[in-house]
Amino acid sequence: MTDLRYDGRVAVVTGAGHGLGRQHALELAARGAKVVVNDLGGDVHGGGASSGPAEAVVEEITKAGGAAVANPDNVATPEGAQAIVRTALDSFGQVDIVVNNAGILRDKSLKNMTPDDFDAVIAVHLRGSFLVSSAAWPHLRERGYGRIVNTSSPAGLFGNFGQANYSSAKMGLIGLAKTLAVEGAKYNIKANAIAPVAATRMTEDVIPAEVAATFDVEMVTPLVAWLVHEDCESTGEVYSVGGGRIARVFVAEGPGYVKKDGLSVEDVRDNWSQITAETPYVVPKHAGDQMAAVFEALK
Ligand code: NAI
Repeated sequence: MTDLRYDGRVAVVTGAGHGLGRQHALELAARGAKVVVNDLGGDVHGGGASSGPAEAVVEEITKAGGAAVANPDNVATPEGAQAIVRTALDSFGQVDIVVNNAGILRDKSLKNMTPDDFDAVIAVHLRGSFLVSSAAWPHLRERGYGRIVNTSSPAGLFGNFGQANYSSAKMGLIGLAKTLAVEGAKYNIKANAIAPVAATRMTEDVIPAEVAATFDVEMVTPLVAWLVHEDCESTGEVYSVGGGRIARVFVAEGPGYVKKDGLSVEDVRDNWSQITAETPYVVPKHAGDQMAAVFEALK
């Protein structure tokens, strides 16, 4: 089997100055992609800004013989997102791949979470991924090719203490990827989401040092690289990834309970085990599929 290459492709990786994004950028560049290394260069809570981290990654790439350009803009503003995509167009003439990866944390239990804590996290993860994707979208559509990966999280898929803001953003990124997959289908634009676990500055308080090596960022990037490769047909899907394990995560709907001739609250109480049954389930590809399953059940 031949190695997977990205020659002729231009990738934008947001938040690529550290951690996972840096590793994605290094890998794609090592395999021939031209890469825009975006990073605002702030701290893990979103404070500060510096062009240093993005520039350092570009230096690493160019020293290794790859092609990359640094961009220090903020994904969370429309101007920033436009400037990130503009950097790709000005430097390399096109954009093919968008890896929405930039992120911050403002962990607090709901009791202590302020609207600012909520908005700041939603802004970077969810709004930022929307803005960068929509800045790239007309160019992807025009060329009839695109690969987008959103970085979700197990916290979004399954919930996590102290992360009402972060988990809302991360579940939103699943919805965004699924809708971009639907809207991008006829333009050969494929969009997926990952829910990674990796030892980075973001997780240094939660991943014990003794298992940090197991959860190296290098154990996540191969999935991202595959999802943005032209041979990859996956779209609208979600994958959990970390430590060398990769699994598809899917949103399924159980068989349900049906009563067409009037429904009472007692019906709901008395049929709770059927309502909550997990099998046999369906995995709708989009909302229209789910609606079709409803009509089928009502036949
Ligand atoms: P990290 O803190 O090492 O990297 C995040 C990068 O995003 C930083 O370099 C930061 O400067 C950049 N960034 C932050 N705000 C930005 C903005 N407004 N515009 C541009 N760049 C900005 O953290 P890590 O772990 O590499 O996280 C990468 C992504 O993976 C994040 O979206 C995170 O939520 C997600 N994730 C990470 C997990 C893990 O186990 N490390 C688990 C689940 C999700």
